[in-house]
Amino acid sequence: MQITIKKAETLKQRPDSKKLGFGTFFTDHMFNMDYEKGKGWHSPRIEPYSSIEMAPSTMVLHYGQAVFEGLKAFRTESGKIQLFRPKDNLKRMNRSSKLLCIPAIDEKFVLDALKELIKIEKDWVPDEPGTSLYIRPTIIATDPFLGVRASYTYRFFIILCPVGAYYAEGFNPVKIWVTKEHVRAVRGGIGEAKTPGNYAASLYAAEDAHEKGYTQVLWLDGVLQKYVEEVGSMNIFFVINGEIITPMLNGSILPGITRDSVISLAKQWKIPVSERRISIEEVFSAHENGKLEEVFGTGTAAVISPVGEIKYTDKILSINSGKVGVLSQKFFNALTDIQYGKIQDSAGWIEVVL
Ligand code: COI
Repeated sequence: MQITIKKAETLKQRPDSKKLGFGTFFTDHMFNMDYEKGKGWHSPRIEPYSSIEMAPSTMVLHYGQAVFEGLKAFRTESGKIQLFRPKDNLKRMNRSSKLLCIPAIDEKFVLDALKELIKIEKDWVPDEPGTSLYIRPTIIATDPFLGVRASYTYRFFIILCPVGAYYAEGFNPVKIWVTKEHVRAVRGGIGEAKTPGNYAASLYAAEDAHEKGYTQVLWLDGVLQKYVEEVGSMNIFFVINGEIITPMLNGSILPGITRDSVISLAKQWKIPVSERRISIEEVFSAHENGKLEEVFGTGTAAVISPVGEIKYTDKILSINSGKVGVLSQKFFNALTDIQYGKIQDSAGWIEVVL
């Protein structure tokens, strides 16, 4: 397939790289491609960033049949632009799509298209420390139809967004609240897919957490409400007595790429790391015994987010005196050093764009 390119006639004023925040500014162009049953994916094109016109009956608006991804491009000190583990994101997108009955994309073709788009938008990749170009590939169901079934037509698009820190706290420890009232997902559902419904399902509890003065929700499993699953829009790690523990992927947890990177780095550094079930009681008793050393979240948007406080029922844990832990800092430094090209990528995670 040949990608057609239509350039924008006027370019937007680019935002100040020191005041980006997260998710507010979008570049001049986007990538689009359509799917039709019997025809497959077709009409790949890079064109000016614009609204998507759709009928009020469009299926995605009613039944949420959609998937998305989040990855980043970084500007290195020498001025190169590089992606972090893009193939893993596109692979995960296809796994999410399968659960949502969305047709697969050609991962190699889409990666090449993404690189083309970034080359056109290269001036939008910010260079302030801690900034990057956040990439949001998305697929939505586009049939104008109200019956409940998988759509026959889809739109795939990629939009780009220069970003700074995801949380207002930046790299400072966040406070999280363990909810007993809400659950995010159950095994056999779509918890492991990156699909809008999972995020919609998180909003009510997130508002509750904010009202109580907490930044994020820590989710327990949807059946017993006993085992830790994930936190807000991140995976979660505990450091107990020198061992790094993260909940194993069980079908209802998002298989995070930063999660996987942290596990790989820990193995490389010969730090004991295990993926297993961990109950909230275990976390609390480790704290009581003075063995809970650190807690941190991982995600593309936030990278590493240290946790300074956890509230569960009427109990409050202060972790590492609310300060950034040694391992949280070490993982943050290692990941960002690889992403910004300050150290050699020995794992093949980096894909240079230009
Ligand atoms: C990410 O970390 O990329 C996410 O998708 C989390 C959130 C911004 C939805």
